[in-house]
Amino acid sequence: MISIAPSILSSDFSKLGEEISILDKSKAEYIHIDVMDGSFVPNITFGAPVVKAIRKYTDKTFDVHLMIDNPGNFIDDFINAGADLITVHYEADRHIDRTIGYIKSKGVKAGIVLNPGTPVSVLKNIIKKLDMVLIMSVNPGFGGQSFIDYSIDKIKEVKELKDKFNPNLLIEIDGGINKENIKEVYEAGVDIAVAGSAVYNGDILKNIEELIERTK
Ligand code: DX5
Ligand code: ZN
Repeated sequence: MISIAPSILSSDFSKLGEEISILDKSKAEYIHIDVMDGSFVPNITFGAPVVKAIRKYTDKTFDVHLMIDNPGNFIDDFINAGADLITVHYEADRHIDRTIGYIKSKGVKAGIVLNPGTPVSVLKNIIKKLDMVLIMSVNPGFGGQSFIDYSIDKIKEVKELKDKFNPNLLIEIDGGINKENIKEVYEAGVDIAVAGSAVYNGDILKNIEELIERTK
């Protein structure tokens, strides 16, 4: 079955605690937390203090997506704030192997994110070390963008690497996921679908249930 990771980027930041409490009652297994620095991506969101503040509202898995330059400098902050899983962009870190090793050494799950234009082949050697690969199906920075079609090919390529080298790997997709395309990404090999606008436009709990339902 597919897991849903609602992206709190689309939630109402003025009542973030309440919004997390709603997700706590939902069928979503993960909470996707988009951290942006205004440098790696053209937008700024929030940092570790906000992650720490919302930690008390749920025990669901905090899936922290770092869209920041030199993520290696901030890993301790996000672990101390309560991250369960941290993904770092391949494009943002010149020492990605070191950063992944560091996250894992702290007992936290680690993954690499690929921008749409970054080929899956860069993962060939490091794949065995990863808990997750996150494929961006939009250019990161904003919610509500359209799914880039060739992402389906990239999911299938990661699935091949998973089957060959790391059967426990989690494959996550992020960007433009909706009720119409979730089945296709699931069938291509996705384990976890991030959804922002598709969760927050309308009834949150119903939307999450429907997204799961559409993959059956
Ligand atoms: C984009 C973020 C996504 C975004 C997804 O940079 O990483 O998590 O919130 O939003 P939707 O589902 O609306 O494309
Ligand atoms: Zn994200």
